[in-house]
Amino acid sequence: MKTVTANGVEIAFRDEGRGTPLLLVHGFPLDHTMWKHQIEGLSSVCRVIAPDLRGFGRSRAMGAKVTMERLADDLAALVDALGAGEPIVFCGLSMGGYVAWEFWKKYRAGVRGLVLCDTRAAADSPEAAAGRRETARRVLAEGPAFLVDAMVPKLLAPGASATRPDLIESLSAMIRSANAQGVAAAALGMAERDDASTLLPRIDCPCLVVVGQYDAISPPDEMRAIAESIPGAQCVTVPDAGHMAPMENPDQVNAAIAAFLDGLSR
Ligand code: MLT
Repeated sequence: MKTVTANGVEIAFRDEGRGTPLLLVHGFPLDHTMWKHQIEGLSSVCRVIAPDLRGFGRSRAMGAKVTMERLADDLAALVDALGAGEPIVFCGLSMGGYVAWEFWKKYRAGVRGLVLCDTRAAADSPEAAAGRRETARRVLAEGPAFLVDAMVPKLLAPGASATRPDLIESLSAMIRSANAQGVAAAALGMAERDDASTLLPRIDCPCLVVVGQYDAISPPDEMRAIAESIPGAQCVTVPDAGHMAPMENPDQVNAAIAAFLDGLSR
């Protein structure tokens, strides 16, 4: 991995391939390795940039609370530092999608397209926000390991504990090794994120919405409604996948993203 100081924080990232820059932004409380199959499978058709957001993976944690806007600012500074030289395709999963809305709001001139994977436009309910604050408190008190049992079963399609021990293991390892300060800061930032629903009709770049057939966190109906609210957006439902569609069914996700990228160059 390479590192660069962007927006005052040390950001670690992978940068592979050539062509249209595709920025892959991971979910919570994960890191860039969730995009392993996209880095391997798409770097032959585009330039894949896969960072660890601040406080995750190998990127430095800074701040007690990190808003989605701050994460978008980090990524804009990263793209600048890399001299991408052309607008990027921003691809975010779940929390990465929350960051995508903020990136679009502030840096739209630098966006060639959006890929929204297994994410939500709605803000947290007061109960959900309170749950995030409790998560932040607990993570700081006891570390992130309790999130393995709390989250992993919800991230994958039903039956994965029997059929996909490899994915259970890699997600569990990512969560166990997460930085408590980084996880807590992002949980607090997600709790107060804006509702992006009113933004959707104003998004005027090409958009691809990708959702796992069995996503229990950002269900297909909710994601189809997001796609219907964004003018011209396409929606792809990925079979045999839950919330972590890019890990669970990488061939289908890669094919959808490659076709989307191909459409951009026509
Ligand atoms: C994620 O995958 O990033 C999380 O499920 C986002 C969330 O907790 O809302």
